[in-house]
Amino acid sequence: MQEKQEDLFANKSKSWDMSSKRVQNAKSIADLIVKNIDLDKKMELMDFGAGTGLLSYFIAPFVGKIIAVDNSPSMLKEFETKCDAFACETEIVQKDLSSETLDRRFDGIISSMTIHHLEDTLSLFRKFYEMLKDGGFIAIADLDSEDGSFHSDNTGVFHHGFDREALQAIAEEVGFRDVHFDTASTIKKPHRDFTVFLITAKK
Ligand SMILES: C[S@@+](CC[C@H](N)C(=O)[O-])C[C@H]1O[C@@H](n2cnc3c(N)ncnc32)[C@H](O)[C@@H]1O
Repeated sequence: MQEKQEDLFANKSKSWDMSSKRVQNAKSIADLIVKNIDLDKKMELMDFGAGTGLLSYFIAPFVGKIIAVDNSPSMLKEFETKCDAFACETEIVQKDLSSETLDRRFDGIISSMTIHHLEDTLSLFRKFYEMLKDGGFIAIADLDSEDGSFHSDNTGVFHHGFDREALQAIAEEVGFRDVHFDTASTIKKPHRDFTVFLITAKK
């Protein structure tokens, strides 16, 4: 029998959207995605680690459908309560992409602040590649390498940010082309600032 996984976001989901820093970060990432990628209303995107839907909400006006993939029931419940207000169709899929995959093909995969929660980045990027149509794109945002002080509790955090060159090598190893990095935002905390990158690439 499969062991029931702990919902690491159960205590955070209800108040997740109340942080103006989180909302601003998601908005900055979405603005950069819209600037860098030609989105259109025929597209179906997966938002990996969609959580409560902060990134999905800002991308929704530009695409046809967003499939919110996340392994946290509590975060997806918050997504569900809001999704009527989204400017595109939505679908919720509860999946843990560290151990499962999705037998579907998307026009693009977007993600914000999630990939540091999965240990095996190479395997994750392989899955992303498989889940894209030919010519599809990824637009993935997460922290640049940090000293481990971003999260007050590092439970479930496998990477203290990412080195851009190392991540580019992983993306290219699985077959992505046109790999490009930009800085999407800076998250200011009392003790220091943390930058967030956006990696974009094509299948
Ligand atoms: C830091 S939150 C970010 C949520 C949202 N993208 C945002 O920017 O507000 C990370 C999200 O990734 C999800 N997550 C973590 N590990 C996952 C996995 N292995 N498979 C699917 N989702 C995962 C968590 O449940 C959580 O909702």
